[in-house]
Amino acid sequence: MRVEVFADREALAQAAAAFIKGAAGRAVNERGVFSLALAGGSTPLETYRLLGHDPAFPWAETQLFWGDERCVPPDHPDSNRGAALGALGPPESLPPDNVHPIRGQLSAQEAAQDYAWRLKGFFAEQGRPAFDLVLLGLGPDGHVASLFPGGPGLSETNAWVIPVAAPSHVRPQVPRVSLSLWALNQARQVLLLVSGAAKAPAAARLRGGEAPDLPAARLRPQEELVLYLDRDAAGD
Ligand code: 6PG
Repeated sequence: MRVEVFADREALAQAAAAFIKGAAGRAVNERGVFSLALAGGSTPLETYRLLGHDPAFPWAETQLFWGDERCVPPDHPDSNRGAALGALGPPESLPPDNVHPIRGQLSAQEAAQDYAWRLKGFFAEQGRPAFDLVLLGLGPDGHVASLFPGGPGLSETNAWVIPVAAPSHVRPQVPRVSLSLWALNQARQVLLLVSGAAKAPAAARLRGGEAPDLPAARLRPQEELVLYLDRDAAGD
């Protein structure tokens, strides 16, 4: 795992946007397409704002997915899809057909089946969810996407997408849909964005390498796992 610490939330967002743009450029040069799964939550929103307003970002060649979603309508304030597209703009150069949301307006079971079916169609050639890049945030309990400690989706080796019951320990306490750990690990790269002192304990345990109970500690993408922190999350 490659770790970089940045002075503050804004510097973290700038560095994350540059990282994502670099991954996009490589993917488009090599394969003509960039498949990106967005993180939910609030940490990445500034990064999305920067990317959405970057005229040089290859949006026309980008296929946009999500790592997880809350089972709420897209216009609900808790919707990862609504928050991300709002922060992105979305850019005029991003074709609507390139946006592949998890349908949070459905039940978790139906939305998981629907999303898995669409992912299997998009990645039919590879036979696995071979995202170029998956963005993730980190929960204070070490969760990523909607994979919670001791919860479902951590041991599956054939489920691409899972429904998750409403968690009681983190908000929002609504049912969710999440890529499984196996699916996250099919990505070439995973970029974990962590900001704020509240995440420092989980980030320290993750960096210490002695926390097998943390879902984040189970991330093993195909090429590289990168952890970007601001000083508060790094405990500096
Ligand atoms: C979600 C996210 C979740 C999030 C972390 C961090 O749907 O809630 O996918 O995994 O990334 O909980 O959230 P913040 O960035 O808001 O702290």
